[in-house]
Amino acid sequence: MNKVTGIDAKLDKHLVIIVDDLPSNLIYFNEALTTFGYRTVTAANGKEGLEKVNALIPDLILTDVNMPEMNGYELCAAVKGNPVTKDIPIILITAQDDRNSLIQGLDTGADDFLIKPVNLSELQARVRNLLLVKDYRDHMKRYTSELETQVAMRTAELNNAFVELKAVNLQLKESILDTIQRLSTAAEYRDKETAAHIWRMSHYSQIVARSLGLSSEDVDNILYASAMHDVGKIGTPDHILLKTGKLTADEKQIMDEHTLIGESILGGSNYPLLELAKEVAGGHHEWWDGTGYPRQLTGENIPVAARIVAVADVYDALTTKRVYKDAWTADEAFAHIQAGAGTHFDPTCVAAIVNSRSKIEDIQRSDQALKDS
Ligand SMILES: [Fe+2]
Ligand SMILES: [Fe+2]
Repeated sequence: MNKVTGIDAKLDKHLVIIVDDLPSNLIYFNEALTTFGYRTVTAANGKEGLEKVNALIPDLILTDVNMPEMNGYELCAAVKGNPVTKDIPIILITAQDDRNSLIQGLDTGADDFLIKPVNLSELQARVRNLLLVKDYRDHMKRYTSELETQVAMRTAELNNAFVELKAVNLQLKESILDTIQRLSTAAEYRDKETAAHIWRMSHYSQIVARSLGLSSEDVDNILYASAMHDVGKIGTPDHILLKTGKLTADEKQIMDEHTLIGESILGGSNYPLLELAKEVAGGHHEWWDGTGYPRQLTGENIPVAARIVAVADVYDALTTKRVYKDAWTADEAFAHIQAGAGTHFDPTCVAAIVNSRSKIEDIQRSDQALKDS
């Protein structure tokens, strides 16, 4: 505590700018405020006062109203109009105790008034109250800004975690695809079907699915699921799978069971991708007109992913060289597929692969480039 004024010592740090054109008033208020325990700076008019306010950012301004160059109201308006200084409390000292001048002062943003002659106890009380309010407001400002910084930091951390999670998810998806392709290739290995067949037909399926307007998640799932279409061939005996001559009716029946074996390998999972793969394995030899196998399903009773894979798988089989035939040209293969619209194939899937012909041939070319390198 200050022995003379009784004011708490923590108030010593507060800086008050006193603005008055009368030197005797400056001396009077300066002495009083110093005695109360504040640091002070004086200015002889509003203009000088404003310069000092902007340079020193005081805790409070005590200003006369009638002054040359810039009066107290103008000073008040300038301080309150600047975002940096607008929260500094201002006490106007006026000889005019009429209502109009008080209202004018309020309009310019003054926080309090003192009427001349100023009573020192009243001055001390008003200054102390305004500074208490300002201290509280400053504290809240700091607290809010700290809070904002913390929220920004947490948000940045969350964003980073999200980006990392996305990268991990992508990596996981890629490794799943890689595993699926390797396992599918292993299943078809004995059949002399290659990893290249799996790669091409799964990408053809992806293109057709996208052209049909399916969601990007469904398109991705069809890419992965289509790779497993013939996984059931792992259960087909060698003497049938590898037979070069024509299959007997019984052998054909056993061969056709690769669809049902695939279903049973892939079924019973809670994983939607494997559920889709099961539909593809079971349905990729069904025909739109109901003459396919294993269940002679018709039209839209055949799962859409299986209808897509049927088109993609046949296109690749036609355009690839086999022991019993040369590779067909793209023209021949597209003509065959178009001829099968409505009998073998879903007409919308046929339209989708025909409309995506340049993308299909891009895949064919990039696969050729891989093999040539
Ligand atoms: Fe098949
Ligand atoms: Fe195939």
